[in-house]
Amino acid sequence: MASTMRAAVLPEPGKPLEIREVPIPEPLTNEMLIKVLYAGINHRDVWIQKGLYPGIRKGVILGSDCVGIVEKVGSEVDSAWIGKKVIVNPGIDWGPRREVQSSSFHILGNPTNGTFAEYVVVPAENVYQPPLHLSDEEAAALPLAGVTAYRALFYRGKVKEGETVLITGIGGGVALMALKMATTVTDKIIVTSSSREKIERAIELGASDGFFYTQEDWHKQLASKWGGVDVVIDGASGPNIAKIIDILNPAGRLVIYGQTAGRVEQLSTAKVFWRHLNILGSTMGSPSDFEEMLELWNTHKLKPVIDRLYSLDEINKAFEWMDNAKQFGKIVIKV
Ligand SMILES: NC(=O)c1ccc[n+]([C@@H]2O[C@H](COP(=O)([O-])OP(=O)(O)OC[C@H]3O[C@@H](n4cnc5c(N)ncnc54)[C@H](OP(=O)(O)O)[C@@H]3O)[C@@H](O)[C@H]2O)c1
Repeated sequence: MASTMRAAVLPEPGKPLEIREVPIPEPLTNEMLIKVLYAGINHRDVWIQKGLYPGIRKGVILGSDCVGIVEKVGSEVDSAWIGKKVIVNPGIDWGPRREVQSSSFHILGNPTNGTFAEYVVVPAENVYQPPLHLSDEEAAALPLAGVTAYRALFYRGKVKEGETVLITGIGGGVALMALKMATTVTDKIIVTSSSREKIERAIELGASDGFFYTQEDWHKQLASKWGGVDVVIDGASGPNIAKIIDILNPAGRLVIYGQTAGRVEQLSTAKVFWRHLNILGSTMGSPSDFEEMLELWNTHKLKPVIDRLYSLDEINKAFEWMDNAKQFGKIVIKV
């Protein structure tokens, strides 16, 4: 085995990634070295590259998601894993409480080196068998977005059969994972998007209807057609949160997992308390969320939507594609 590997390194925040030859890492006693086959991109990678994320380490190798082959294991790890195909739960050190991550929780791909490289080292407890019905590139798309969407929908949002679910910004990676998983419990799924084509594609995948969040009165259009919604899965935050509050049914749940559209400046708390609304935050997921998410994809033979595939050499192009919100689904890198 060679002693160096190719990796996409972030020289410093705001600069493009550079493909460099760097040493192959060594697994510690409880870790595995994985030869990466495919790596999925998440918006987090783009935020970090642009310098819009806390605690960025100069020279880090980004990337949280991958499918690969176990090449080497630490002394305390069962050697039967060697040669097996695996996916990785990128949430490291979640800790003992399912309700919330521990203070040592961190995400693979900053500050620890991630998956946009020929090899990555991860804790053995974060490694799982990929769903067998998925291709390698589909499985590589699943971990971070899949666990985020699973926890938001089921652990935090507690979506029940037949409820009306609104998923905002359906072109997004997490949003599409949420759509796929929501179809297993309800056929009343409404989406928002900036794009007619993306709404049409979401309807083909099981959504009932779609509205343009770019139109001032999208929430009124939704309410006049559907009444209200029981659960909202939102990764945008920003000014639309006030509109979402207006269309949430009494006792409804709004689950927020991101703020692509910025902070929420104004919120009518009177509407929140009078209608017994629940505003819930959600971040990635615990090991139990990850395992349940895999089980759901296996049971229902769900498939993630892949937008496009890039090579490791084209990684900056892939980042640009995501930054311009051109994608419908996950962008995957063939390493
Ligand atoms: N807390 C967590 O654990 C966690 C995990 C994953 C992601 N996130 C965060 O969640 C967000 C989405 O992540 P992702 O990886 O799914 O990103 P992504 O694939 O880049 O999705 C971004 C999508 O956001 C939508 N969008 C943009 N502005 C919007 C607005 N004003 N209202 C509604 N939707 C809007 C667009 O949808 P259309 O193209 O349909 O218009 C776009 O495609 C990011 O901010 C990310 O950092 C958080």
